[in-house]
Amino acid sequence: MRLVLLGAPGAGKGTQADLIRRELDLAHIASGDLLRDAQSKGSELGLLAKSYMEKGQLVPDETVAGLILERIAEPDCDKGFILDGFPRNVDQAEVLRSALGGKNMIIDNVIYIKVSESELLSRLSGRWICQECQAPYHEVTSRPRIEGKCDKCGGKLYQRADDTVETVKKRLEVYLSQTMPLVEYYRENGQLVEVDGEQSIQGVSEELLRVLKGNGST
Ligand code: AP5
Ligand code: MG
Repeated sequence: MRLVLLGAPGAGKGTQADLIRRELDLAHIASGDLLRDAQSKGSELGLLAKSYMEKGQLVPDETVAGLILERIAEPDCDKGFILDGFPRNVDQAEVLRSALGGKNMIIDNVIYIKVSESELLSRLSGRWICQECQAPYHEVTSRPRIEGKCDKCGGKLYQRADDTVETVKKRLEVYLSQTMPLVEYYRENGQLVEVDGEQSIQGVSEELLRVLKGNGST
């Protein structure tokens, strides 16, 4: 199965991708994590990405698409994958469609995790992330068992540089102007399934799995 998870910043894409990848044995490809990884290695691509990410803007399409298409070509993606954060505009969706088409592949499911703006703001302001495995936590709704440490790998938790109030506002603006048209693009293609992202984390993943198992493509 090849799956795209769409949703605003803080909608729960990373949280849900981590849960369903284990359940369905899929690779998890998060564009933001790949870009942050390039930054931490100090590569030229990482430095370029940083200059956009710290302002809450999208990194240029060709840079992100190159990273994603390289990642999709890795052997662990042969079993299927979840795209989290890519595509993020209609041009990226077209690049993906044509690259997969060249290999006789398609995206089987596009899931839109819908969450209201006030909920997004409270999720992002309370988010902590593992610097080793990228697992997300929240200081109110999803606390780690030991303060400051990841339950899964013991890694140190940190707050993302782009989770400040000002940058979150910009990310939401960019989402509305550039990513919402993509939601309509997939809806018009008849590929979009909308899921209520304001249920509990468990509730959302149960609904996602019902949708994914229900359509027979697992
Ligand atoms: P990226 O890293 O993709 O960030 P994002 O899309 O802004 O989304 P987030 O990672 O902030 O949110 P999420 O939906 O994963 O939520 P999470 O599960 O963590 O992108 C960052 C930047 O990289 C972009 O701004 C851009 O510059 C660049 N970039 C990335 N992809 C790009 C692309 N394709 N093209 C160009 N540029 C690109 O959950 C959030 C919090 O809520 C957590 O604390 C979690 O515990 C909590 N939570 C989750 N679900 C629930 C729930 N159901 N109830 C209560 N709390 C919940
Ligand atoms: Mg994420």
